[in-house]
Amino acid sequence: MEFIVSLQLMRQYAEQQRCAGRRLALVPTMGYLHEGHLQLIRRARQLADVVITSVFVNPTQFLPGEDYERYPRDIDRDRRLAEAAGSDVLFAPLVQEMYPAGYTTRVSVLGVSEPFEGVYRPGHFDGVATVVTKLFVITRPHIALFGQKDWQQTLVVRQLVRDLNFEVDIHVVPTVREPDGLAMSSRNVYLEPEQRQKATALYRALQRARALVLQGERRRSVIVQALLEELARVPELQLDYAAAARAQTLEEPEEFAPGEQVVLLVAARLGGTRLIDNELVDVPQYGAERA
Ligand code: PAF
Repeated sequence: MEFIVSLQLMRQYAEQQRCAGRRLALVPTMGYLHEGHLQLIRRARQLADVVITSVFVNPTQFLPGEDYERYPRDIDRDRRLAEAAGSDVLFAPLVQEMYPAGYTTRVSVLGVSEPFEGVYRPGHFDGVATVVTKLFVITRPHIALFGQKDWQQTLVVRQLVRDLNFEVDIHVVPTVREPDGLAMSSRNVYLEPEQRQKATALYRALQRARALVLQGERRRSVIVQALLEELARVPELQLDYAAAARAQTLEEPEEFAPGEQVVLLVAARLGGTRLIDNELVDVPQYGAERA
């Protein structure tokens, strides 16, 4: 596997591969790879000739006071794991090259970036959109893969691709979970053993609300109430939001229509760790009729 740090070498490599007629896949990550990332790499391996995994802890998507400094980093481990999963390149640019002195440009995607994470982490998606734009320009991928765990991020990236005319196909890969349901995340290493157990409340809440939708419940307030009740069982969880929205637009109608795809979203803090998770569910065509 190639290990590339320089932006210029990465551009040259990508250009050569394109000229040779190869199909390039990009798996953008912030490193400290876990099974969720490895699934993205394996899927990319199936879809493309050349798999580029980027590892870059992007400072512009962290708010002041967030965990940028302590975000887990282990590039040697990432190299081993990415190679074993089938990556051809590990691209690990330096902050000073991505954002040199005098850098001033920011990419803002309006609309889907505004609710939920946009309220609790204002400016976060500008940082994501900016770095994803830069990674697309540098690595020139035909396809890029993102995890469903960051559902709102996938919508922001799709909008970015449409609006800026990137010829990149976006693939969203299902969330990989621990056996007890906790969504895999590099940030899970922050959790103390006791918190780790409590963190499964997010998954339980999503499953309960999902079951309700599948039983025919379409009223958003009732679906959200189910999320809230389950989360309230763990008083240590400090909730940012629990929501049910149209999966593709994040609109929140009073009642969902039969056949619509709904995304259930939760975000909460447990001690100093912020957890997010989501579940997609299709509203049945013929729900149980309510009295
Ligand atoms: O999902 C992530 O890890 C990051 O937001 C991404 C897409 C790599 C951009 O820094």
